[in-house]
Amino acid sequence: MNAKKTKKIVVLATGGTIAGLASDAAKPQTYTAGQVAVADLLQGVAHDGVELLSEQVAQIDSKDMSFAVWQSLLARVSHYSEQDDVQGVVITHGTDTLEETAYFLQAVLQPTKPVAITCAMLPANAPDSDGPGNLKNALTWVQEPAASGVSVVCAGQVHAGNAVQKSHSHQRNPFTSQAGVMHPAVLRVPSVAQVVACQHWPRVELVFNHAGADGRLVRALTAHDAPQGWVVAGTGNGTLHHDLEAALLDAQKQGAQVLRASRCAQGGVQSSEADVLPHAGGLTAVQARVALLMHLVAQQT
Ligand code: SIN
Repeated sequence: MNAKKTKKIVVLATGGTIAGLASDAAKPQTYTAGQVAVADLLQGVAHDGVELLSEQVAQIDSKDMSFAVWQSLLARVSHYSEQDDVQGVVITHGTDTLEETAYFLQAVLQPTKPVAITCAMLPANAPDSDGPGNLKNALTWVQEPAASGVSVVCAGQVHAGNAVQKSHSHQRNPFTSQAGVMHPAVLRVPSVAQVVACQHWPRVELVFNHAGADGRLVRALTAHDAPQGWVVAGTGNGTLHHDLEAALLDAQKQGAQVLRASRCAQGGVQSSEADVLPHAGGLTAVQARVALLMHLVAQQT
């Protein structure tokens, strides 16, 4: 008789507030992120009928997210997603750069198995920590038939990984989703193998348009240590002060790739007849930076 194989869910931990500890649990606003091991996070959240595997990929505050951690995470998600008996992958992550990791994983991996990223706004030892509930919800979500690709599970909501944005700095539900987010067709996406093997990450800087934006920063960096890419968070529909635009056009002439986004939280940039620099459509500025990084990695080989 064939015993039915138990499905596995893999939990990959990277740190964040969900793994944070406050020195005084009565004052949970003061804490250090990335302290609690994944095995301890999973105490008490066992799921009936599935086997939980776990791995500590990193243990960081996500403000310190690095390309090296992204490479390790991508390699492990890719590895586990290819196993027949793995139903889905859950990633624990800090909220601060979660939207960048989510966009990166969705763009490069385009996973066929559900990958849910979850997090918390209160550290693990806060009396009313939101981490265990979010983790349980993520474990449940990856078993749902509707779950696909990379999603973000937080505060009872599920967001598409390519559309999520941290839009509140401290409320329990810090995320909102935007509509109309599509990876710009002109930007290439590298393979998992290209990203994992990448030794020299391109440098893509992010600048803002604002009152008095004179482009001096762009000119100084271009003269000194030219980045390969610039993303500019323009005003409104991605508009730029004429001095900043002139500096970016000069950087472009010298070989840098330039992409305009909007500093507005919603709506992105729509094409206009006045466009002189390419734009990133519905992507936010940080998503556009990830997209341009990936494009430049894809061009390396
Ligand atoms: C972090 O992003 O690692 C710290 C903040 C958080 O998780 O909310």
